[in-house]
Amino acid sequence: MTGAKKKPAAARRAPAMSKGHSQAPRRLLRDERELVALCLALVGSRNSLSQAEQALANGVRPLAEPELVKRARGYIKQGLDPLGGAFLRLRAPAVRRNLGAVYTPDPIIRSMLNWSADQGTPARVVDPGAGSGRYLLAAAKRFPQAELVAVELDPLAALMLRANLAALGLTSRVRILVEDFRLAELPAIEGRTLYLGNPPYVRHHDIGDDWKQWFAQSAAAFGVRASKLAGLHIHFFLRVLQLAKPGDVGAFITSSEWLDVNYGATLRRLLAHQLGGVAVHVLDASAMPFEGAATTGAITCFKVGEQSDGLRVRSVPTLEALNGLSKGVVVPWDRARSAPRWSPSSAQSARFLRATSSWENCAGSIAAR
Ligand SMILES: C[S@@+](CC[C@H](N)C(=O)[O-])C[C@H]1O[C@@H](n2cnc3c(N)ncnc32)[C@H](O)[C@@H]1O
Repeated sequence: MTGAKKKPAAARRAPAMSKGHSQAPRRLLRDERELVALCLALVGSRNSLSQAEQALANGVRPLAEPELVKRARGYIKQGLDPLGGAFLRLRAPAVRRNLGAVYTPDPIIRSMLNWSADQGTPARVVDPGAGSGRYLLAAAKRFPQAELVAVELDPLAALMLRANLAALGLTSRVRILVEDFRLAELPAIEGRTLYLGNPPYVRHHDIGDDWKQWFAQSAAAFGVRASKLAGLHIHFFLRVLQLAKPGDVGAFITSSEWLDVNYGATLRRLLAHQLGGVAVHVLDASAMPFEGAATTGAITCFKVGEQSDGLRVRSVPTLEALNGLSKGVVVPWDRARSAPRWSPSSAQSARFLRATSSWENCAGSIAAR
């Protein structure tokens, strides 16, 4: 997602090849093959590529513009995302929709990392659907000792992440699994794993029956009925629950639809029980949490296997107001569990809110705090 209005996020979005300080002529990458070529130039050797990345690289001519490579590297070192920016420009939104590829603005990543850091230092950070690596690169800085794992189905995104890591000298810190997150296996480790990211939003119409069956069976194993209408982002939460151990934590941003619709009941149940929901911060659509779409976003924080006092709920008007995701009003779990909707703005939530003393103390409002 690249919808942020503030300068740092906008700067991340700007393709490096369209502006810079170099005296060399600037030009935009023409197509995805040129983007692949630029990534390969940044990575150096092809030996480390996964099979899918190798296949993508086959037949791509090397880039004969060292200035372009140098400029891209410079931008990456400044903390920008020129490769991701070029990708978002080159791949049409309708095509990106197939894999739910939108990249996350900086302020959202920062606030999710702040919350994560408050839960203690993770031994491992896993980013399911890592894209160009915005979360993992930020996590690498924030948690210098943590092992980092990226899971990404799209080989071009994986290659961009690899190129970013190479430019930053971080290659050895990250393991990139180029596969479907629902099939990804993670070895057991000592210490806590942090699951962090922006799972792909792919609607159920584009999910095959085999995966719907997987979802139903996997949810049933946790005693939860699954809806066939659930999107891919809900599958990701369930996969986290399958992989996680008690004490692991997570923060995901998704579309907020699941808070109020029937198919979202599966996730609401999981959060109310095994997944250990802690908070839901609902970002107003005008904050543009998702590039190019006036859609409301929900940042969901959870601690696997833990039962918090209640679910912290907050409506957030702007990216600037996000902070470290510590604010909001706590709805006791006995209320939250029986509420048909969780969205702070829904009338039913408000009624359900007023019925609790803690909410009354908070003036019966779940508006931004
Ligand atoms: C919403 S984007 C997030 C990208 C990046 N984490 C960010 O926030 O900037 C979701 C990513 O998930 C990837 N993806 C889609 N389906 C996937 C799957 N089944 N398993 C793993 N990754 C997947 C997409 O290619 C895309 O890069």
